Amino acid sequence: TTTQACNFIIFGAKGDLARRKLIPALYQLEKIGSIHPRTFILGVGRAEWDLLTYIKIVRSSLERFMKESINENIWCRFSKRFDFCNLDVNQTEQFVHVLNKLKNLDLLTINYFAMPPHTFGSICKGLSLVGLNKERNRIVIEKPLGMNFDSARVINSQVSKYFHETQIYRVDHYLGKEAILNLLVLRFANSVFFSNWDNNTIDHVQITVSEEVGIEGRWGYFDAMGQMRDMVQSHLLQILTIIAMSPPFDLSADCIRDEKVKVLRSLRMINTNTIHEIAVRGQYTAGFINGQPVPGYLEEIGSNKDSKTETFVSIKVNIDNWRWFGVPFYLRTGKRLAMKYSEVVIYFKKPILNLFKDSYSILPNNKLIIRLQPYEGIDMQILSKIPGLGNKNRLKITNLNLNLRKIFSGEYILDAYERLLLEVMRGIQVLFVRYDEIEDSWRWVDSVIEAWSLVDGVPKLYKAGTWGPSESTEMIRKGNHHWNKCT
Ligand code: BG6
Repeated sequence: TTTQACNFIIFGAKGDLARRKLIPALYQLEKIGSIHPRTFILGVGRAEWDLLTYIKIVRSSLERFMKESINENIWCRFSKRFDFCNLDVNQTEQFVHVLNKLKNLDLLTINYFAMPPHTFGSICKGLSLVGLNKERNRIVIEKPLGMNFDSARVINSQVSKYFHETQIYRVDHYLGKEAILNLLVLRFANSVFFSNWDNNTIDHVQITVSEEVGIEGRWGYFDAMGQMRDMVQSHLLQILTIIAMSPPFDLSADCIRDEKVKVLRSLRMINTNTIHEIAVRGQYTAGFINGQPVPGYLEEIGSNKDSKTETFVSIKVNIDNWRWFGVPFYLRTGKRLAMKYSEVVIYFKKPILNLFKDSYSILPNNKLIIRLQPYEGIDMQILSKIPGLGNKNRLKITNLNLNLRKIFSGEYILDAYERLLLEVMRGIQVLFVRYDEIEDSWRWVDSVIEAWSLVDGVPKLYKAGTWGPSESTEMIRKGNHHWNKCT
């Protein structure tokens, strides 16, 4: 699908996000023919670059951050789209320079703010001063959208002063991942799951997003945030809401987001009485990843040796609504864990009577394992009879296994940023986060962080390359559950 022609402006063209994610994603969209021939891309940043210098930077970003090598025909088309504008976004009166660079003012303008949130207010103001906040224009903003509820509110109000909610696209890149989108199909296109998705049939749910990477040179940012703010507030809560939400009336952005918000509002707040029982924070020490030694969090470059910031969180979440009351959702995420892997595991309730005591004194739960990354797939664990004679039944846990990558191996799977940029160009907001999702998720996250700050000063240590501190295993065991073994 070709999108409509637009002016695509990247504020923060010098930065990491622009070079690592946006430029390669735009190139891929060029390659698959999704960018309109008249679309123009303007990089904005503080640098005395002429066009040639900027084009060289664009090319070197592709060379460095793309998995494939550059195709010269595509590059020829792609590179002609660019221009650069030297601008300090705090000098709002200078935004006229941006306007002067746009060749066609009749086109829709998309403004991607690849900059920290404290600049959002002045970018919005600058755009409005030159009339670029007109109704058809869009802005794209990205986390960190605040550090807590109050600061998230400030950001929302700064941008909503100049742009209507229908013009604001808040990125959570997990919403651009193929496997996350498939969750909607799995749940609402398959009656077998649709009708078995509540506290009558489901025992508990586990969501794991484990990472191998450490801090990747971002110590300052990460240390101020920690895994709770960096990963749980955004990606894990997004996955949780898609798993837990009730069916929307249709697939429009607001119908889906209305249902997600209801889940966020039903999250049981955490307080100092409950925090010890249900939440564990961890911090990695030196260890091995794929056989290679890696430093501990406090030994990373730029570190503050006294930091108590968590690099791991596991937490039991209760959703106090009719559908989920009594069904714990266990979340687990950390840096420098044993492998890069994300999954959702649905544990169904056991049969009320066990007729197979010869084989299992307690029958295991059926499990639906939804693998999100690196390889999208779905497994269903069911019990089967081991063939053979004899009057005793012998049962075994067997796997119905769907490898989505393999089944759709002929299809091009869009990377998260490619999909999200395409959706912004198409003007579809389904995969973007509404202001109230942000605020309601912060409200709950704040309750956890506040309880931690009041009762529990130090994170539990875990060795890099493991599955986190032993307290995490203990926490889930208290609920008579154990973490699914990721493979
Ligand atoms: C980002 C976080 O949003 O997501 C990072 O800021 C994290 O800390 C990253 O490493 C993980 O994304 P992905 O797509 O690699 O799972």
